[in-house]
Formats: sequence, C-alpha cells, structure tokens
Amino acid sequence: MEKNIKKVLLSQEQIEAKVEELAGYLRAEYADKNPIFIGVLKGVVIFFADMVRKMNFPCEIDFMCISSYGAGATTTGNVMVKKDISADIKGRHVVILEDIYDTGNSLTFVRDYLLSKEPASLKICTLLDKPERRKPGVTLKPEYVGFTIPNEFVVGYGLDFNEQYRNLPYIGVLKPEVYEK
Ligand code: IMP
Ligand code: MG
Repeated sequence: MEKNIKKVLLSQEQIEAKVEELAGYLRAEYADKNPIFIGVLKGVVIFFADMVRKMNFPCEIDFMCISSYGAGATTTGNVMVKKDISADIKGRHVVILEDIYDTGNSLTFVRDYLLSKEPASLKICTLLDKPERRKPGVTLKPEYVGFTIPNEFVVGYGLDFNEQYRNLPYIGVLKPEVYEK
C-alpha cells in the first residue's frame, strides 16, 4: 500500500495538532448550543470521529452520503443524495464536517441542501482545502479550514483512491502513475 505513496504531505502529528486546534474553535462556539455535527460520508469518518471526541458538551451526530467522485479522480459535477440525514435540523445549530474542499461541488450542494431544511445556523469545518481546483463561480467560504494544500491528489486519514488508502494514519500524495493507469 505505502509503495504507492509519493510523499507524506501531513504527518499524523501535524493532523493531531490541527484537529485539536479546530476542535478548540468549535468548543468555544458551540458549548451551549447542542449542535448537530453532520459528516459527509465516507471520506470524513476518521476526521469526524477525532473531532467529535474532543467535544465536551451535549451534541448530536448525523451523516449523509452523496455521490461525487465515483471511482476515479475526476468529478462529474453531478451531485445526488444517496443517504439522507435522519435528524430534524430545523431550528438547530448545524456544523458540517468535511474532509476536503476541492472543486466545491459537494460542499455547495450539501450546504444548500441542509439550508433548505432551515437550521438556526450552519457552519462548515473542512480539514483540507485545495483552492486551485475550485470551479469558477463557487463562492462558498468554510468558516474553519485545517490545511490549505497544493493541487495534488491525496489519500489517507479517510481519503481514498478507488476506496483504498482510507486507513493510512497520515495524508499522503499518491504517485500519479497509480491513478493515471
Ligand atoms: P468537490 O466536490 O470537488 O469539492 O470534492 C469533494 C470530494 O471529492 C471530497 O469530499 C472527497 O471525497 C473527494 N476528493 C477531492 N479531492 C480529493 C483528493 O485529493 N483525494 C481524495 N478524495 C478527494
Ligand atoms: Mg468527502
């Protein structure tokens, strides 16, 4: 598995420190709001689990699943809800946790979809941001961003290529020949 990794972009230690920092912002903001943390499956699961364990106040978790990348490394621009949240978020404080803000298709869709359910507030916390890939016209600005990264395809800490590599404890750059063949 690791022979396909060109380099480690973010080590386990760097990720842990960033998770602690981001969690600190959310603790300060949501301690008395009983928020619902919503994760977009599946890439976010590792980040999500690390983040919510650092919340020392009442909160709920929920998940949705959308179709985005399919099996390859290019996006289609077509987003669909494959699994909806089960909570009623009307009037609730919602925080979307995301693994990576890339073209912006997914997050824009999820934000608009959840806003249509009339939450009291909605903010976005993404571990990674890859601004060079943003589609023109995407204006969304996540309130909390962990790391801004260069335009390289990354895997690990939940992020996959063809459903592989999610279990790596760090975030690495995949060798291009792995996804170009
Ligand atoms: P967007 O809709 O293009 O912003 O893409 C968001 C989704 O695409 C993320 O939630 C990831 O699942 C996936 N994705 C984007 N960039 C990468 C990457 O570098 N590695 C792995 N998955 C990625
Ligand atoms: Mg994702």
